[in-house]
Parts: sequence; structure tokens; C-alpha cells
Amino acid sequence: MKTKLNINIDHIATLRQAREGDFPNPIDSIKIIRKAKANGVVMHLREDRRHIQLKDLKNFKKKYNFHLNLEMAPTLEMVKIANKIKPDVVTLVPEKRRELTTEGGLNLRKNYAKLKKIIMLLDNDIKIMLFIDPIKTQIKLALELGAYGIEINTGNYSEKSGLLQKKEIGRIKKAAIYSSEQNLFTAAGHGLNEKNLPNLVKIKQIEEYNIGHSIISNSIFYGLYESIKRIQYIIK
Ligand code: PXP
Repeated sequence: MKTKLNINIDHIATLRQAREGDFPNPIDSIKIIRKAKANGVVMHLREDRRHIQLKDLKNFKKKYNFHLNLEMAPTLEMVKIANKIKPDVVTLVPEKRRELTTEGGLNLRKNYAKLKKIIMLLDNDIKIMLFIDPIKTQIKLALELGAYGIEINTGNYSEKSGLLQKKEIGRIKKAAIYSSEQNLFTAAGHGLNEKNLPNLVKIKQIEEYNIGHSIISNSIFYGLYESIKRIQYIIK
């Protein structure tokens, strides 16, 4: 099984939004992402539209037939958009307006009824992934909700160092093993970079990584193609 890599292009849009203009256009990166043989692209349409805009999703669909994972909050507004755009995968994530980035995984117990409804309303041909912390009870609930897979939140892992990071990787490994035993597609993401990825990729049960900020940032120094290749090299 070949581990997959999807590129999150939100922060190309962050740069564009800094001047509220048209440049750089995040969709112009798709050619390079495909050339580098990444497996797909991730965009998070946030409720406050701070980076990716609806026009980016439309533009992407018009121009490309390429794997799209749409990250979104579990709201009715987003369900309507997803059913129109028809991404291959929707990853449901918690969203707070004032957070700098996604903070922590979804609490599936607390939001069970709401998530059940949102999942029911999403088109059947969209695969649904749930972004959760590496906790067995959350994985059990993801199964109960009928998710196609989970994305394990590596945010906590990426912020820690030393013994605390070792402990966190242990939790991620346990969660990934359990998730794949349950036949859930098992992805991981948030805060991953060239420094913290080498230890994580030893966990064979993780089938896919979703990485954005570090790759887009490294593009300033190495270019986008080379930044993707560097991460692919670690994953291989
Ligand atoms: N996965 C999820 C669910 C996320 O919310 C994000 C950030 O948008 C990522 C992966 C990518 O994280 P990063 O930009 O830190 O690589």
C-alpha cells in the first residue's frame, strides 16, 4: 500500500487575501501539485472565508478532474455547498471563528445528533471523513456515524517535544491501529512538517497525510514542486 499525500492549499489563498486581490491564485498551484504526483488537494472553506473562497472551489471543479478533499464545518450552509461542488471527500472539522487554525478534533459524542443529520444530508457519493483526536471512543463513534474514515489530529503531536511528543505518538499509533482494524480509512494531519513527519511515517496504518502550512511556507525557499518532493521523500 502506497501512503498518499494531499496538499492543503489554503495558505496560497491566505497570501492572496492579504491584498484582497487575485494573486496568487491557489488553483494555479494544481498543475504543479499534479506534476509532483501528489494524490490530491485539500481546501478548507471556512465560514469567515479568511482564505479559500467559493469561487476557488468552482474554478477548481471547472478546470480539473483531480482528487478534492473539502474540509468544512458541519453546518447546513456547508452541506449545500458540498452537494453542489461534489468533492471526492468531505472532512468535517470543528470551527471557531476566532481560532488561528483548527484547534483539536471534533467531539463526536457532544455533536452526535448534529453530525448524524449533516452526514445524512450530504450526497451519498461523497466520502465522509471525521477529524478527531486519537481516542478509541471517538473512533467507535465515527464507525457508528457511518464515516468512511477518520483523520487523526496531529496538532497536539506537532506542538510537543521530547517525552511528551513520544507519548502523543504512542496515542496516535494506537488509534491508527484500531481505526484500520475497524476498516476505517485512516489519515492524519495538522502541523506536520519535515521535522516531525519522519517519526510518524513509521506508523504503517496511516494511509494518507494532509499537509499545508509547512509545504506552502517551504515553497518560498524551495518552490512548490521541490517542497512536495521533499515531503514525498520522507513518506517513502
Ligand atoms: N487537516 C485538517 C483537518 C486541518 O484543519 C488542517 C489545517 O487546515 C490540516 C490538516 C493541514 O494542517 P497544516 O496546514 O498545519 O499542515
